[in-house]
Amino acid sequence: MELELMLDVKKIRKDFPILNRTVNGKPLIYFDNAATSQTPKQVIDVIVDYYSNYNANIHRGVHTLSQEATDAYEQARIKIQKHFNAKHPYEIIYTAGTTDSINLVASGFSSLLKKGDEILVSALEHHSNIVPWQMLSERTGAILKVIPMNEDGDLILSEFDDLLNNKTKLVFVNHISNALGTINPIEYMIEKAHAIGAAVLVDGAQSCPHLKPDVQALDVDFYVCSAHKICGPTGVGMLYGKEEWLNKLPPYQGGGEMIAEVTFEKTTYAGLPHKYEAGTPNVSGGIAFGAALDYMNSIGFDAIAKYEHELLEYATEQLKQIEGLKIYGTAKEKTSVISFNVSSIHPYDIGTILDKMGIAVRTGHHCAQPIMDFYKIPGTIRASFMFYNTKEEIDTFITALKKAVMMLS
Ligand code: ALA
Repeated sequence: MELELMLDVKKIRKDFPILNRTVNGKPLIYFDNAATSQTPKQVIDVIVDYYSNYNANIHRGVHTLSQEATDAYEQARIKIQKHFNAKHPYEIIYTAGTTDSINLVASGFSSLLKKGDEILVSALEHHSNIVPWQMLSERTGAILKVIPMNEDGDLILSEFDDLLNNKTKLVFVNHISNALGTINPIEYMIEKAHAIGAAVLVDGAQSCPHLKPDVQALDVDFYVCSAHKICGPTGVGMLYGKEEWLNKLPPYQGGGEMIAEVTFEKTTYAGLPHKYEAGTPNVSGGIAFGAALDYMNSIGFDAIAKYEHELLEYATEQLKQIEGLKIYGTAKEKTSVISFNVSSIHPYDIGTILDKMGIAVRTGHHCAQPIMDFYKIPGTIRASFMFYNTKEEIDTFITALKKAVMMLS
């Protein structure tokens, strides 16, 4: 099927005001979607409407504005619940984003782990799914072990199986690697971890823009993501946790809203989800998160996945034709992220020249230094695509890249 026929990309692009701008005199080509996606006017309008018409603190006021804001915020929680197929709305905790969600869980497990317990983290993780667990292991004496990867950027499952034992309490893995695009076999990993009684946290920061996870079908214990990768605003995200885990873990932060009763002698905590939501939340962010999911669902995740896969294959084929270019991350199951280097040219130099030609890519270690260490490189150039990118943009990118390589060789 013709690429542009899978989705009405021309029409979709009109939803994104930023795609009309120029950078350094050239039309913007935005290939840094794995860092943050762009925002459609349907979502921007929701934020403007909130601040123009019903900005108020929530769960606190009897006045109309507060009630309207509370309703919209809680309706958005239900949209998020339905999108991820959580059993209950109160299993969705609003957070500031993926990193915040992971820190919430890591902080909670401080009181549940003891010296000698083992926690497994995959070699493919972003720093945000490594550092909080290192801090947790320092606090508790639990031992952090690494599930290794191979040259293609796949996790070595036989080694994962060998690492699991009755001391393993937790397993952390991303659904999709931000640096390489590998889609990890989380179904298998969850089943194996549960068989020995370990809980699993899946970092969905890079999967949620491309597919629709079903947390009940996965039977996952915790699933986390950020709204800004899914056409929503920055500074808001979610933690899905199974009810029994959320009841078991202690609150993360103390403050208003998370309490049932406070005296100077003793405080009792609110029930779910408020126990984890201290302070005035990002109200407009939560409401816009719901609107972003509405927007993505109106396009449809099946069509998005198919279209983005075509973009990935098309770009991969074009890149392979460039002499001296090496792609890092060649797993069979991949999403629309391509990391590469050309000969010994520094990624930063190529990224800077591409920017002069209006093309945004990310360069560097992508907050995944252990992956770069594995390949013995300082970093890569990363192009990451969303459903609003086009084959024509890839053609322009390839021409610009060839020019940059010529200038730097
Ligand atoms: N985690 C984001 C990225 O991969 C910031 O670029």
